[in-house]
Amino acid sequence: MEETILIVDDEKDILEVLAISLTDLGYNVHTAENGEDALRIFREASPPIIMTDIRMPVMDGIELLQKVKQQSPDTEVIMVTGHGDIDVAIESLKYEATDFITKPISDEILETTLRRARERIDLKAKLRAYTGNLESIVHELLGLSHTIKTIAGGLEGGSFVLEKGIELDEKEYVLQGWEMIRMSVEKVKDLSLALLHHAKATHRNDQRCDPNQPAQDVFELLKPRAEQEGVDLKLECQRDITPLYFDQDGINCCLHNLVTNALDAIADAPRRDKKRWVSIKTAKPDGWGVEYRVADNGSGIVDEIKDRIFANFCSTKGARGTGAGLMMTKRIIEDHKGLIWFESNRSAGTTFIVRLPESEPRIDDRH
Ligand SMILES: Nc1ncnc2c1ncn2[C@@H]1O[C@H](COP(=O)(O)OP(=O)(O)OP(=O)(O)O)[C@@H](O)[C@H]1O
Ligand SMILES: [Mg+2]
Repeated sequence: MEETILIVDDEKDILEVLAISLTDLGYNVHTAENGEDALRIFREASPPIIMTDIRMPVMDGIELLQKVKQQSPDTEVIMVTGHGDIDVAIESLKYEATDFITKPISDEILETTLRRARERIDLKAKLRAYTGNLESIVHELLGLSHTIKTIAGGLEGGSFVLEKGIELDEKEYVLQGWEMIRMSVEKVKDLSLALLHHAKATHRNDQRCDPNQPAQDVFELLKPRAEQEGVDLKLECQRDITPLYFDQDGINCCLHNLVTNALDAIADAPRRDKKRWVSIKTAKPDGWGVEYRVADNGSGIVDEIKDRIFANFCSTKGARGTGAGLMMTKRIIEDHKGLIWFESNRSAGTTFIVRLPESEPRIDDRH
């Protein structure tokens, strides 16, 4: 890509010669004859590198340097000094000039100075990406340790109640304690599965699948739970959707989480007389491979968490939830270049919509 550079000097001849050399070196060159003009061009073109003379009328190089650095600390500003300008050059160090070169400027010095400036720009970009990653890893770990602490708390509480039950020979306590432990064990299992998928999401095992299959599998798997909880679990599949390439385990896991969330939301809603239902629907919208809709008439999503529902370990379920479900679901869907979003309100319930793209033609389809 062509790098943009702004050169500033009040001596027209020098400016012209420099502009020619820099254009030859492959730069997109802007020129200005004083600091004020330079600042205007800087605001319009935001060049990553500026090379400026120090002594100029109207606004000198040091003032320009200061103003540029205030607005954009990452811009590389190279100061061009004449002989005997050492004091001013040192002063510009205070304002974080990147480099100095002394006139007359040879092509060789010009090239090396600019190469160094470009290396610094690349390095800064890499550093930014790296610290960004680091921040998100730390964030994930914090969420994870919180989740583990919640589960450990559940186990501890459960053991306490169970021990009391044994000590006092109270069957009710024993059962209660055991139930708490059982729930925590279930959570440990869910969490390890979630982490496994989280780690695995990059190693997809894509196969040619019937897009209705994951919806049917999840329906069969969760039908008994729904029946037990008095929820009408419905499945409506559009027939004859063209097979697609995707990771069936991954998509199963996403739908499983959406349907369990829907069942949880129904369990959390106040029990009015209304009929309680969850539906799984498949369709084939134009331009997409398949659309899954998982809808419920449960509690609706709490407003406070709507904008971070897909974030790491966001859960309103205390010891019952790890909050890894939607984070992982989104990751798997996006990994498939698909989309996921929701519509939700506290009275009508929630619908999650997932779309997967149409598959690109594959070599093994040519027969
Ligand atoms: N259908 C829904 N209705 C209402 N709230 C929902 C629904 N789906 C998700 N939520 C909210 O989003 C939160 C995050 O869901 P997510 O699946 O990521 O975690 P979780 O269900 O709490 O735990 P788990 O990791 O066990 O799935 C839930 O705690 C719940 O508050
Ligand atoms: Mg969940």
